[in-house]
Amino acid sequence: MSESTDTQELASLTTSLRRHLQRRERVGIRFLPKGDLPRETTTVSSDANLMAGTEGNLFSDSSAVYEAKTLEELRAAIGDCRRCKLWSGRTHLVFGVGNPKAKLMFVGEGPGRDEDLQGEPFVGRAGQLLTDIITKGMGLRREDVYIANVVKCRPPENRNPEPDEVASCEPFLKKQIDLVKPAIIVALGKFAVQTLLQSKVPITRLRGQWHSYHGIKLMPTLHPAYLLRNPADKKLVWDDIKKVMKELSGESA
Ligand code: URA
Repeated sequence: MSESTDTQELASLTTSLRRHLQRRERVGIRFLPKGDLPRETTTVSSDANLMAGTEGNLFSDSSAVYEAKTLEELRAAIGDCRRCKLWSGRTHLVFGVGNPKAKLMFVGEGPGRDEDLQGEPFVGRAGQLLTDIITKGMGLRREDVYIANVVKCRPPENRNPEPDEVASCEPFLKKQIDLVKPAIIVALGKFAVQTLLQSKVPITRLRGQWHSYHGIKLMPTLHPAYLLRNPADKKLVWDDIKKVMKELSGESA
């Protein structure tokens, strides 16, 4: 290979790396991922400033995300998002739905096919089961709670979101939680639980116990899609949901 080809290749690699780091910076990420280092703790800082570390600067679009005062402003700041590769396969960016002042927030993994087509979280078969848990189980309406996902765009073939996709989208979920200020979060399934608690502990060990997400009570439970495949485990989710209802009745007392 000639020296000029080497130089061109190096220049092109440098440009790609610079663009990649700029894209990460635009969503407020200024560190390199620590990879898959296991973390033992299941209490995420009680630091009230949930958005700490995601502040933008004057030159990055993360400042609009950071400064959003309402969910509408946050949605506008996210815009026609192309911060990670999932944008290219989406029909709709699935932001979140429900009461902007909900006491109870559900967090899932990411949109599936139905959610991608309709632009609303949990509207497919797993969504129907979640709706039943909320309405028939808890006696609430879907509009009473807030529902969001870790990633806002559908991963191809419903694969798990990849670390760079989560890293790009996580500031939006954090900001949604910061704006809604729920008293309780129910994290649905391994992915939401492990992302919010920054933990590699299996969901089977985390579920059913209260954890803390920046001082907000967090109850991990099994994902409704898992329950469709393993209906016998519905009773475990019902146990978890009863704990949530007990805590909620204390919140409104
Ligand atoms: N599964 C999820 O985790 N989220 C949805 O919105 C739908 C299915």
